[in-house]
Amino acid sequence: MAVAAAVVLSLLKGASGREPVLHRVGGGRYTWAPNINFTQWASNEVFYVGDWLYFGFDKHRYSVLQVNKTCYDTCTDRDFIANITRGGRDVFNLTSARPYYFLSSGGYCFSGMRLAITVREPPPEDPTQPPPPILPRIQGSGHSTKVHIQVLKITTLVYLNLLFML
Ligand SMILES: *[C@@H]1O[C@H](CO)[C@@H](O)[C@H](O)[C@H]1NC(C)=O
Ligand SMILES: *[C@@H]1O[C@H](CO)[C@@H](O)[C@H](O)[C@H]1NC(C)=O
Ligand SMILES: *[C@@H]1O[C@H](CO)[C@@H](O)[C@H](O)[C@H]1NC(C)=O
Ligand SMILES: *[C@@H]1O[C@H](CO)[C@@H](O)[C@H](O)[C@H]1NC(C)=O
Repeated sequence: MAVAAAVVLSLLKGASGREPVLHRVGGGRYTWAPNINFTQWASNEVFYVGDWLYFGFDKHRYSVLQVNKTCYDTCTDRDFIANITRGGRDVFNLTSARPYYFLSSGGYCFSGMRLAITVREPPPEDPTQPPPPILPRIQGSGHSTKVHIQVLKITTLVYLNLLFML
């Protein structure tokens, strides 16, 4: 169990030592919708390269198009860069450090369904921090229970994130 979790962790951590974050656009499961202030939502999030956006929405009404700044500013849904729309529980991989712009077609951009974010390089690993303990070695002490609970929590989180990506 601990070994499996440690493997999952090391896979997730990547080069920077930071786990990728799944940002639920709008803050909830189905919050890619009109009349939500996505500027406000984004101002409370920090986006790093390798993170993901999750758009949960009614696919019969709304869509997710990646656009450039001009189209974002003017709510233009022609000449988009990419159509992210799939089943309405759609994810987008933030692969480089730059601004990204999204909107919904069908006129819903004018009701607030547009998002602008800036993605940053992950912070360098802090050399003053000690490396994390090797989980499988800690056994038989009171400490071990705590570690196992921690591992369980992380594993649950991983499963939840994977569920969202389906
Ligand atoms: C959304 O929130 C931002 C930042 O809080 C604010 O400047 C802007 O006026 C808001 N937009 C709308 C349409 O309410
Ligand atoms: C955005 O795309 C439109 C349509 O292709 C184009 O006319 C415009 O110049 C582009 N703007 C930027 C900032 O790239
Ligand atoms: C985007 O893709 C969805 C799903 O494939 C499709 O229904 C929709 O028409 C597309 N939107 C545009 C503007 O191409
Ligand atoms: C997401 O983007 C990162 C950075 O480019 C890349 O390393 C990773 O393989 C991508 N993941 C998927 C599942 O596409």
